[in-house]
Amino acid sequence: MCGIFGYIGSQNPVKMALQGIKRLEYRGYDSAGIAGVDAGKLRFCKEAGKVAMLEQEVEKAHMHLEVSIAHTRWATNGAPTKENAHPHLDSAESVAVVHNGIIENYPELRETLIKQGVTFVSETDTEIVPHLIASLYQGDFLEAVRKAVSMLHGAYALAIIHRDHPDCIIAVAHESPLAVGIGSNEAFISSDSQAFANYTRDVLFLSNGEIAVVKRGHYEVFDVSNQQITRDLQRIESKPQVSLKGEYEHYTLKEIHEQPTVLQNAFAGRLREEYGTVQFEELKFDVNDLLSIERILILGCGTSWHAGYLAAYMIEDIARIPVQVEISSEFRYKNPIVPHGTFVIAISQSGETADTLAATRELQAKGAKVLTLCNVHGSTMDRESDACVYLRAGPEVGVCSTKAFTNQIVILFLFTVMLARMRHLNRQEGQAFLQAVKALPQQVQAVLDMEKHIADIAKRYAHHDNFFFLGRRYMYPASLEGALKLKEISYINANGYPAGEMKHGPIALINENCPTVALCANKQTFGKLLNNLMEVKARNGKVIAIAPEGTEGLSDIADEVIWVPETIDELASVPTSVAAQLFAYYVALERGAEIDQPRNLAKSVTVE
Ligand code: G6P
Repeated sequence: MCGIFGYIGSQNPVKMALQGIKRLEYRGYDSAGIAGVDAGKLRFCKEAGKVAMLEQEVEKAHMHLEVSIAHTRWATNGAPTKENAHPHLDSAESVAVVHNGIIENYPELRETLIKQGVTFVSETDTEIVPHLIASLYQGDFLEAVRKAVSMLHGAYALAIIHRDHPDCIIAVAHESPLAVGIGSNEAFISSDSQAFANYTRDVLFLSNGEIAVVKRGHYEVFDVSNQQITRDLQRIESKPQVSLKGEYEHYTLKEIHEQPTVLQNAFAGRLREEYGTVQFEELKFDVNDLLSIERILILGCGTSWHAGYLAAYMIEDIARIPVQVEISSEFRYKNPIVPHGTFVIAISQSGETADTLAATRELQAKGAKVLTLCNVHGSTMDRESDACVYLRAGPEVGVCSTKAFTNQIVILFLFTVMLARMRHLNRQEGQAFLQAVKALPQQVQAVLDMEKHIADIAKRYAHHDNFFFLGRRYMYPASLEGALKLKEISYINANGYPAGEMKHGPIALINENCPTVALCANKQTFGKLLNNLMEVKARNGKVIAIAPEGTEGLSDIADEVIWVPETIDELASVPTSVAAQLFAYYVALERGAEIDQPRNLAKSVTVE
């Protein structure tokens, strides 16, 4: 992960770089740094902590730069300290480098450089790059970078400057995203084009080891075999969307509250009510592509994987198509069998998650069609997949996913209805499903209206260090997601589990100090869930039930109940998850945890 940014042009390079990495902070925020050339010398400043800390140091240092590169880090090799913060320099302070990715063969390269007398000052893999370039430099900056890059294995996006060449930044990208923006008499380098889209929307996306020499308003690109290649600029359409916290204490709370509106956006203009079906204008496949689907493979990580898990139940139940759902990081190292008729759905809020991207590339190489569900226009997965349906959740700033998740569920449900209508589902059945979707915004609002009640329960249970989230069928992936929210923002150990599996081991952990959040909204299996909850109760476990209004049988079992509006089983994860999000938020608030940018996490995970 990590965010890298570079600027060369007539605006203030210090200001531009700091502004750039602030926009990239969602990619990591454990340390930050900036470097540039000033009168034939490299100057740099680094700080552990967020970009705001770096800003203070830069101000004190009265930095003036002719060209700048900057970085915000999510630690992989080496702790999040000032020494390990980027940019990294060679010993003579002639070359400075910022890096996103992992250089896998750095131990060997480091060993060789140490034998040549180089002293390393950090624990990072990145530091080998400036030392290598400096050792290969004989007056030709590009040549030295080419030779150094040819020795690297792994994934890397790099921005490099040299004190003798203040007129350029060299950018390199291999399996890590990097965008070059060209404006009039200025140029930008960034891990994400949105970070400079306010200044230019003419962009070049580097890949496959390409090297770009970037100057004011000008660029040259070379491929891996050192041939200069012609690469035209692409115009990105979307303007960066700005999100402000407004009246809310945290973005996470604001985003939880936005759900009634963004859920409406998820289906607006996509329902064909008269025919009881759905149409996505972005879905470029023709009818035959969709009719010939024999099997669906869903990929995702984290929250997106949970949405995929829910979709697997929906698609098999309603569209009667067999579905396999896989965690991308596991799937990519399988030797996947992709039978004819397999259709792939890749789910990623950011559209940049390295594991999902690698898995989909492998599947495309095997000839499968890939549909991406993502929230970010112009992201790598949006550009590379065969079609992309947008989540329309608006920018999600809080690191833990909330509104993107519920929009993923709704869009996957709509896609399911569409597939089912193309097969066996009749118009009335399709219409009934669409009515259930249309009721969701109001139902979610009803959950939000119970915020105070949920906050009170959360406060009372916030001192516990272990929780279970239990559910069956649709409520099982919902329980995985509920537990993940609590882990991410309150740092409490929470296990999402299929309720029926408790007796096969985990029930050993139940006692009066380990509460269970019971997700009760799957009508079909509710009786079975009640039995499992009785087993919890019999072992002195406290039960907090999230249940549809009118559910009977909970009074003797649940210590607390959060009532949510009733909907069909296939969509019940939406109101239930909103209640679980509020619960996690208020537990985290009570414990004083950092909610929008939790420790050790990042919004976009661009390393394996
Ligand atoms: C990170 C985020 C999670 C997210 C996961 C997958 O771990 O913190 O909230 O679910 O990445 O991200 P994606 O962008 O692919 O949905």
